[in-house]
Amino acid sequence: MLRDTLARPIRDLRISVTDRCNFRCTYCMPKEVFGREYQFLERAELLSYEEIVRLVRIFTGLGVEKIRLTGGEPLVRQELPRLVEALSAVPGLRDLALTTNGRLLSAQADALCAAGLRRITVSLDTLDDEVFKTINDVDAPVQAVLDGIDAAANVGLEPIKINAVIKRGVNDHTLVDLARHFHGTGHILRFIEYMDVGKTNGWRLEHVVPAREIIERINAELPLEPLEPNYPGEVARRWRYVDGGGEIGVISSISAPFCGACTRARLSAEGQLYTCLFATRGHDLRGALRRGATDEEISTMIASVWRGRDDRYSELRTAESLEREKVEMSYIGG
Ligand code: GTP
Ligand code: 5AD
Ligand code: SF4
Ligand code: SF4
Repeated sequence: MLRDTLARPIRDLRISVTDRCNFRCTYCMPKEVFGREYQFLERAELLSYEEIVRLVRIFTGLGVEKIRLTGGEPLVRQELPRLVEALSAVPGLRDLALTTNGRLLSAQADALCAAGLRRITVSLDTLDDEVFKTINDVDAPVQAVLDGIDAAANVGLEPIKINAVIKRGVNDHTLVDLARHFHGTGHILRFIEYMDVGKTNGWRLEHVVPAREIIERINAELPLEPLEPNYPGEVARRWRYVDGGGEIGVISSISAPFCGACTRARLSAEGQLYTCLFATRGHDLRGALRRGATDEEISTMIASVWRGRDDRYSELRTAESLEREKVEMSYIGG
C-alpha cells in the first residue's frame, strides 16, 4: 500500500476547478492583489473535465476514496454538474463533496444533487450583514447564502456543513449568534482558526481565536460536550449541544495541528499536485497528461511524489516558515 515518509496513506483528493471567485474575502483574495489586473488562469490552462476524471481514476487506484471539489469558487466554473456526474460514476469513490461560498447555490443545488453530489459545505463567517460585506468585499448579502443553504437542504444534500473562519476583531463578536442560528437546524457549524495560508493575507498570530476560546464562548450560553471523531484524522474536533440541539466542530490548525493523520492531496485547477496546503510548489500532472503519458506512467509519478512526502507544516510552523513562498488559498482551494 502507498505510504508517505510518515506512513500516511493517500485517501482524499481536494480538486480546485477554478482559481476565480465571485467574492474578494479580505483574508483570502484581497482586492489590492486580486484586482482588475490580476492574471487568472486562462481557459486552456485549466484541466478539462475529461482530464480531471482521468486523474481521479488514477488516484482511486492509489487509494483515494474521497473527493472534494473546491475553487476559488467552484460554482463559477461552467457546467459543474457535468463534472459531478462523471465523478459520481467513478468506481471506488466513497465520498463526493463540494465546498462553496453559497452565493450561486440556490440556482445550482438541484442540478448538483441530480448529478450525484452527496455532500456540501457552505462558507459563512457571520450573520451580520455589515460584517459579512466587510469580509466578502463585494457587497454580497447574508441572505443570499442562507437561501443557498435552504436550497441545498430542500434537495436533500443533508446534513450540510457550514464553515466560519474566525478572525479576531473582525467577526469573533458574532460567533455565538452563528451558533444560536444553526442550533437545532441539523446543519453542522464548524469554526475555523484563521490560518497563515499564502502570502497575501497579512496573517498574524493575534488574529487567531483559539478553538478553546471559541468553545468556551459558546459553552457559556449553549452548553457543549465533546464527541468522538467520525473517523481517525478528521480535520474538525466535534462537540454536541447538551440540550440535543445538534453538533458543531472546531478546526484548530494553529492551536492543535493535525498533520499526523493527514491523508490529503490537492490538485490545482491547472493540474499541479500539492501534498500540503502550505506547500511552496507542486508537481505538474497536466504536463504529463498533455505529453501523452499513459495511466501507468502518471500513476507511477503520483506514487513517487507521495512516497517522498514529509509535509507537516502546521506542526513545524516557525517565524521562518511564515516568510516562505506559499501557494494562495484561492489557488489551492483550502
Ligand atoms: P469533511 O470532509 O467534511 O471533513 O471536510 P473538510 O473539513 O476536510 O473540508 P473543508 O473544505 O470544509 O475544510 C475546512 C477547513 O479546514 C478549511 O479551512 C480548510 O482549509 C481546512 N483544511 C482542510 N484540510 C486541511 C489540511 O489538510 N490542513 C490544514 N491545515 N487545513 C485543512
Ligand atoms: N484560514 C482558514 N480558513 C480559510 N478559508 C479561506 N481562507 C482561510 C484562512 N486563511 C476557508 C474558506 C472555506 C475553506 C475552504 O477555507 O472560508 O470555508
Ligand atoms: Fe472567499 Fe472562498 Fe472566494 Fe476565498 S475562495 S475569496 S474564502 S469565497
Ligand atoms: Fe496536511 Fe499540510 Fe495541513 Fe499538515 S499542514 S494537515 S500536512 S495539509
